[in-house]
Amino acid sequence: MRTQVGIIGAGPAGLFLSLLLQRAGIDCVVLESRSREYVESRVRAGVLEQGTVNLMAELGVDARLRRECMIDEGLDMRFSGKLIHLDLPDLTNGKLVHIYGQQEVVKDLIAKRIASGHALLFEAEATRIEGINTGKPTIHFKHEGKEQTLTCDFVAGCDGFHGVGRPAMPASELKIYDREFPFSWLGVLSESPPLTEMTYCNHERGYALVSRRSPQIARLYVQCPNDDDLANWPDSRIWDELHLRIGDEARTELKEGRIFQKGITPCRSFVSAPMQHGRLFLAGDASHIVPPTGAKGLNLAVADVRVLSRGLIDFFKTGATQRLERYSEVCLRRIWKVVRFSTFMTMLLHRPPDQTPFDREIQIAELDYIRTSRAPQTAIAENYVGLPYEDD
Ligand code: FAD
Ligand code: PHB
Repeated sequence: MRTQVGIIGAGPAGLFLSLLLQRAGIDCVVLESRSREYVESRVRAGVLEQGTVNLMAELGVDARLRRECMIDEGLDMRFSGKLIHLDLPDLTNGKLVHIYGQQEVVKDLIAKRIASGHALLFEAEATRIEGINTGKPTIHFKHEGKEQTLTCDFVAGCDGFHGVGRPAMPASELKIYDREFPFSWLGVLSESPPLTEMTYCNHERGYALVSRRSPQIARLYVQCPNDDDLANWPDSRIWDELHLRIGDEARTELKEGRIFQKGITPCRSFVSAPMQHGRLFLAGDASHIVPPTGAKGLNLAVADVRVLSRGLIDFFKTGATQRLERYSEVCLRRIWKVVRFSTFMTMLLHRPPDQTPFDREIQIAELDYIRTSRAPQTAIAENYVGLPYEDD
């Protein structure tokens, strides 16, 4: 097989890139190791920045989003019996975020790619990338029981944190920045009405977050230890902790329902730089991970492929390489701002197991400062709704 851009991974990064390139008449093939059912049901993010929503509109994949999404104009933080309420449009000159599950975004992108008759192979696992320093790199992959190859002009490694893209870059050229936080997130979906606001809680017993997927489906998270096991979390314990941590001791505010999905996610910041070598370009989680407290991972993957698509389009239309050469540099500027914000939110809202009484007082003082002062509220709101794209 042969194509102009070989894309490894049908997560948000790979799928958005494929639609951006096909719209510009550039041929690409997407290889995805998992089945369509698996990627369409993988529960992850839910908060979309305006830039992400705008891109869905430009690509003509926003019809269902418009019907089914929820608009978030507010963000609450609870701590020590107090409330910080951020009015997002008021603090950001009218901006807000959309709530729409990542798996719904993925379903809409896959439907568009398949309806337009372009190549997207499921259960096609890339095993090796060769020749990234030549003009014609080759992706080796397994599909339908056979070893196959895809020769391309460029390879886009959109294959997530555990993919083959990043390991194909020469280790000696990479600088790795890694910070593991000493806690994880236990996340569940429940058939129960959520709170009306996105509610982040800093409680003595640890962090909790009440988000939502629909007026009938709550998306709920609690901080848990890194080595924790789902077996330690029967539904009754999850509800007990949620009620306590959101300050609902009377158990009247948060309605309980059937929990139908559970998972544990570590909190980690990771950046591998640069994001390109020869003819290989990495995008999304393949090159960086942010802790989920800022709700940024998916949005950052979209920001990367927006920049990458412009570089590739320039190259194929005019032969110009300047945009491609600057890809990593342009993306990393945004990435580090997002790592900064996500780390700030993580440290503000969680209780590290080794937190000293001094650090706890500083954390409460910081929350109280934010509660009573517009400047830090504006800074949080601006980052939460999404920083402007800088590459135009
Ligand atoms: P992925 O979604 O990981 O996609 C990579 C794809 O590549 C996968 O489909 C994988 O199967 C495939 N693949 C891997 N290896 C190979 C191979 N060898 N060959 C072929 N295919 C391969 N982000 C937000 O913006 N907002 C949020 O609210 C938010 N909340 C989150 C909550 C949780 C619990 C979690 C876990 C994450 C959250 N994120 C959030 C982060 C977000 O989900 C990720 O950043 C996002 O999925 C990154 O997209 P991606 O396309 O780069 O990678
Ligand atoms: C979600 O709805 O899944 C969600 C919301 C906010 C976050 C992370 C995840 O910070």
